[in-house]
Amino acid sequence: MTTTNVPKPVAAGTDYLDQRTGISNAVKGFARKVFPDHWSFLLGEVALYSFVVLLISGVFLTMFFVPSMGLIEYHGPLSSMNGQLMSEAFASTLKLSFEVRGGLLMRQIHHWAALLFMAAIVVHMMRVFFTGAFRKPRELNWMVGFVLMILGLLAGFTGYSLPDDVLSGNGLRITDGVVKSIPVIGSYLSYMIFGGEFPGEDIIPRLFTMHILVVPALILALIGLHLLFVVLHKHTQYPGGGRTDKNVVGFPLFPVYVAKAGGFFFIVFGVIALMGATMAINNVWNYGPYDPSPVGAGAQPDWYMLFLEGSLRLMPGQTEYVIAGWTLSLNVLIPAVVIPGLLFTFLAVYPFLEAAVTKDKREHHVLDRPRNVPVRTGLGVGFLTAFIILALAGSNDLIATHFHLSINSITWVFRIAFFLAPVAAFWITKRICLGLQRKDRELVLHGHETGRIVRFANGEYIEVHKPLDEQERWLRVGYEANRPLEIAPREDARGVRRKGYAWDRQLQKLSGFFFEDRVEPVTPAELAAAHSHGEHDQLDSGDAHGQLDPVRDGTGHGVVTDERKS
Ligand code: HEM
Repeated sequence: MTTTNVPKPVAAGTDYLDQRTGISNAVKGFARKVFPDHWSFLLGEVALYSFVVLLISGVFLTMFFVPSMGLIEYHGPLSSMNGQLMSEAFASTLKLSFEVRGGLLMRQIHHWAALLFMAAIVVHMMRVFFTGAFRKPRELNWMVGFVLMILGLLAGFTGYSLPDDVLSGNGLRITDGVVKSIPVIGSYLSYMIFGGEFPGEDIIPRLFTMHILVVPALILALIGLHLLFVVLHKHTQYPGGGRTDKNVVGFPLFPVYVAKAGGFFFIVFGVIALMGATMAINNVWNYGPYDPSPVGAGAQPDWYMLFLEGSLRLMPGQTEYVIAGWTLSLNVLIPAVVIPGLLFTFLAVYPFLEAAVTKDKREHHVLDRPRNVPVRTGLGVGFLTAFIILALAGSNDLIATHFHLSINSITWVFRIAFFLAPVAAFWITKRICLGLQRKDRELVLHGHETGRIVRFANGEYIEVHKPLDEQERWLRVGYEANRPLEIAPREDARGVRRKGYAWDRQLQKLSGFFFEDRVEPVTPAELAAAHSHGEHDQLDSGDAHGQLDPVRDGTGHGVVTDERKS
């Protein structure tokens, strides 16, 4: 018989709940779920916890913020603004900053949490991309995550605009221009969004509803779905001894993971609070209330919007045409709609593109090492390079003033770099990956160099190599090199043309681009041949892909293995 030390009232309460909901089985099952342990799995958690901080600090701000564009004359502790006309929104932001106890701290916590939220989302997305965690069965969860990222951008943009200061007002002015650049419907759309000619009197209350209700509700719902998928699919795991597509090696959710995650939440909260308390951010009183006429140099949006700003700054202005009385503003349409559209579409469809060029229908739960998928890794680095160049271009004025350079030269360098640098980054990354794979082959076959040179009696010299241990060998051979697709011929045996051949041919070309250059993993036969060669001291024989005991995989005590149901 087992005895437990649960206090009576707790036991009674739990029993009461269980008899009415039957929840105990679900809780038990959930508590036993196994989560693999790796620092990169914390990135999604940072996003989650900063969202919680956003909700808590946001509720506080909502109590005091007045979402109105009605004009009032300011009379308050900020003497420099006394007597100035401003919107109630701006005035309430000043009140929050100077009169409400803890208001400035909350504003700053909220803003830093937003920046961290977006940074965590982007880095988490990079982790998922570079390790191939988006492969079957997680393509849908990638899509959910992608929508979350777009919603994150929307949440940031709508919140940033609320104080109605000069900086955010200019951001809204840019938005108005972008919307108006959409052919045919643009000006109607702008009138609809702003409730008339920009800026109108409706936009702040409308943004407020989006910011505190619609967008957070959607984010909350989608985070729920996202995490439900993580639980249903079980987490992926990094390659290593004993880890296969059929099991999960890690710690049980309760108590290990719950304790770790709980502690980590407070660390994230603490860091954001420290940032909010010590690092000033968005001091709107320095900019002043919104007025369409002033706009200063050194005006940048929050970091996650910089790519859009940079894209607009790089586009030559001469590309505006009037056709039959309609204005076609390619100078705005291309940088603000077409380029971000292409970049985001690439991200959204990438898992499906890769599935099409591999024709791989199997489930994947063991992550890829980025080097083992050189083209994917190259494409990811190329994408990031384009993103970083656009973000830097969004600060071309600051780069010019800080480094005493001509803004025109900087703009031209970025224009050229935007087209060339991602291609160069792709190529260099791909070559590095292939080089690392060759190095892996070399290590598996010949072991690590020891620096010990031995001379035989016959005068021959050899260097003694130290064979890899099982864990390391597993890591370096445990991958598959995809090959370009093979397709059925254009015509069948009777000379009848096959339907769908043209499409298959395109896919084949694309898969050639992905997998033509590849380094195959060491096969057991190659390994055995290297052993029998005998030169390389102590190489023990065995199967290169042999089974290892997952519990001895070096991740420490308390590791458990759970089978995946396929
Ligand atoms: C509000 C934003 C987001 C939150 C709070 C969030 C949270 C999480 C958490 C806690 C996990 C489990 C731990 C981990 O693997 O890191 C996870 C997994 C995952 N996330 Fe996100 N995520 C967000 C956005 C995204 C984005 C933008 C993408 C990609 C477009 C994405 C794709 C995935 C995928 C595919 C998994 C499963 C990974 C695996 O099992 O290895 N997530 N997410």
